[in-house]
Amino acid sequence: MTTYDFTDRTAVVTGGSRGIGYATAHLLAASGANVFLTSRMAEAAEEAAAQITADLADTTGAGTVTGLAGHVAHPEAAAAVCAAAVEATGRLDILVNNAGTNPAYGPVADQDPALVAKVFEINSTSPLVWIRAALDAGLGAETTGSIVNIASIGALTMEDGIGVYNSSKAALLHLTKQLARELGPRARVNSVAPGVVRTRLSEALWKDHEDAAAATSPLGRIGEPADIADAVAFLAAPSSSWITGTNLVVDGGQLVGTSSISGK
Ligand SMILES: NC(=O)c1ccc[n+]([C@@H]2O[C@H](COP(=O)([O-])OP(=O)(O)OC[C@H]3O[C@@H](n4cnc5c(N)ncnc54)[C@H](OP(=O)(O)O)[C@@H]3O)[C@@H](O)[C@H]2O)c1
Repeated sequence: MTTYDFTDRTAVVTGGSRGIGYATAHLLAASGANVFLTSRMAEAAEEAAAQITADLADTTGAGTVTGLAGHVAHPEAAAAVCAAAVEATGRLDILVNNAGTNPAYGPVADQDPALVAKVFEINSTSPLVWIRAALDAGLGAETTGSIVNIASIGALTMEDGIGVYNSSKAALLHLTKQLARELGPRARVNSVAPGVVRTRLSEALWKDHEDAAAATSPLGRIGEPADIADAVAFLAAPSSSWITGTNLVVDGGQLVGTSSISGK
């Protein structure tokens, strides 16, 4: 087993076919949760679920993993996934709003408004769609539910090139706090703000210059998906039962930066 015990808990993780969502689904299932992960494509979701299930075959107490298709912006997909989770396990305890996108590069004022709306739809509004569906399916009916939204350190700073993405994640941080006010004590609502993590989404930020990217952090490396999964598990677990409306930065210190006296 792992540090966490999610035995008999049920979790939905959006965007779980790879990257941070996959690592999160893996850790939650390894810790006993029955996990329902999604992707836009059924095949990708099913393959990821099968891979995690195979990895955990010898892990005592591991939960089940089910892969389902579901575009995050589609309310009917959210309702179907949450209903399937409750039908199979009788409950829903954890929702991880992880799926995100970043197709709009360049100065914000130069962007096509339709593309900007799309980024906000996926990164800011879709978590609301899944929260509504999870509540309707009974999230938090058994014990206090936990909702974890995956934001970004970009939400906390100004940056050229990905201003639309960062603004959409800033909106998600604000929504997280508002939702924490509105949904307690039935559910806790928190966010995790990753720095640069080794995934497909962020390849432009590290792939051909990993040493330079790593050098911007006091801890001297870029993040791995498992680093973020650990933070999500903490916010989903009873050990954080008095934490809601907060944002946990997990960035190896990228936001604070490095010093010329590092290591001395
Ligand atoms: N990697 C980083 O450095 C970093 C830093 C800060 C924040 N984040 C955030 O972390 C989250 C996960 O990103 P990642 O880096 O792990 O990306 P990733 O490796 O590209 O994975 C993205 C996941 O989301 C799914 N997805 C994408 N669009 C979707 C949609 N419209 N509906 C349903 N699923 C969708 C993808 O599956 P399909 O393509 O199969 O649908 C995939 O499973 C995102 O919210 C991202 O903004 C990442």
